[in-house]
Amino acid sequence: MSLQSGSKTWITVESPGRINLIGEHTDYNRGLVLPTAINKKIFFELRANGEDKSCTVFSETYNSHLEFDLDKIAKSSSTWENYILGVVNEIQKRGKTLRGFECRLKSELPIGAGISSSAALECGLATGLNALFNLGLSKFEIVQLSQAAENNFVGSQCGIMDQYASVMSKSGHLILLDCLDLKAQYIPADFGSCKILLVNTKVSHSLAEGEYNTRRAECETALEIIQQKNQEVKTLRDVDLEMLNSFRTQLSETQYNRVLYVLEENSRVIGASKNLKAGDLRKFGDLMYQSHYGLRDLYEVSCKELDFLVNYTEDKEYIYGSRMMGGGFGGCTINIIVEDKIAEFEKEISSAYEKKFGFPPEFITVVAGEGVVVDRD
Ligand code: GLA
Repeated sequence: MSLQSGSKTWITVESPGRINLIGEHTDYNRGLVLPTAINKKIFFELRANGEDKSCTVFSETYNSHLEFDLDKIAKSSSTWENYILGVVNEIQKRGKTLRGFECRLKSELPIGAGISSSAALECGLATGLNALFNLGLSKFEIVQLSQAAENNFVGSQCGIMDQYASVMSKSGHLILLDCLDLKAQYIPADFGSCKILLVNTKVSHSLAEGEYNTRRAECETALEIIQQKNQEVKTLRDVDLEMLNSFRTQLSETQYNRVLYVLEENSRVIGASKNLKAGDLRKFGDLMYQSHYGLRDLYEVSCKELDFLVNYTEDKEYIYGSRMMGGGFGGCTINIIVEDKIAEFEKEISSAYEKKFGFPPEFITVVAGEGVVVDRD
């Protein structure tokens, strides 16, 4: 897709959103995740504008212009602007020299759907600027600085999963990423006669951001309590069920539940990866359901719309697994569904959801795609 044609000096970037099959809220707990990029993207065009400091960014999606100077980067009151400004800030913090640029972007990723349009925005811009000004940043540095932009400028203490998936994914594969040592294993995204269907609740409850940082803090406090008596424990990866249970009375019920969820989710990711490699989709899907129940009951990041969508699939033989995806409190469920049942299912769940909530959900069929790609016209 081209937003503008003609000049040879434009650089184009395609930066994908991501899905996560299993391993939710585990990345910042140094656990395991199983994400991949998808075939839905943000498209960028960038060129140097010949100016020293002055930059412009136009978002077709927000129908919004942003103008700023490279030596006067400050936080904005608009979130999408902070993704841009945060990336520029992080690049400059690393001693890299930028010059004035013009950027136009257009997104086919729904906002707030939990498919990480924010990481796509950050990683796409960072990749484009890296190519445009020959900054010499490695892919991994782009992942890290994009995450830092979100942590420092937007204020979400997110983990590394979304940016990693947006940059490092390989078409047709899932990434089994260990967020402790950042070792990745690529697993073929082979779902046989099934497809991956996202069902978007179309709600994004405003508590999401605050609650996200709260969950992270709860886990960190629980870890500190456990560390007081176990100095060898560095992260929740060093904690097992027996050790957790020995802290039953020293942790609050909430802290206990959060850690229990994380331990169980990590072992579900290992199990699910094995099941997928062995082609056992039924077991893989069962673990997706277990993940949802843990997120709902122990980690408490689901909501009634997500629960409704997951519950609705439970007695459907042609659906192997379903769970909420991403940070929670809205956004999408991810479903593994037999391809020729998709139309029937969409019709049925659409009317049930509309009857309950007053508006229909949205459906997005996705495949495992390639990470961010940059090209010169
Ligand atoms: C958001 C964050 C990720 C991850 C997920 C939950 O998408 O950006 O780092 O924590 O939530 O798994």
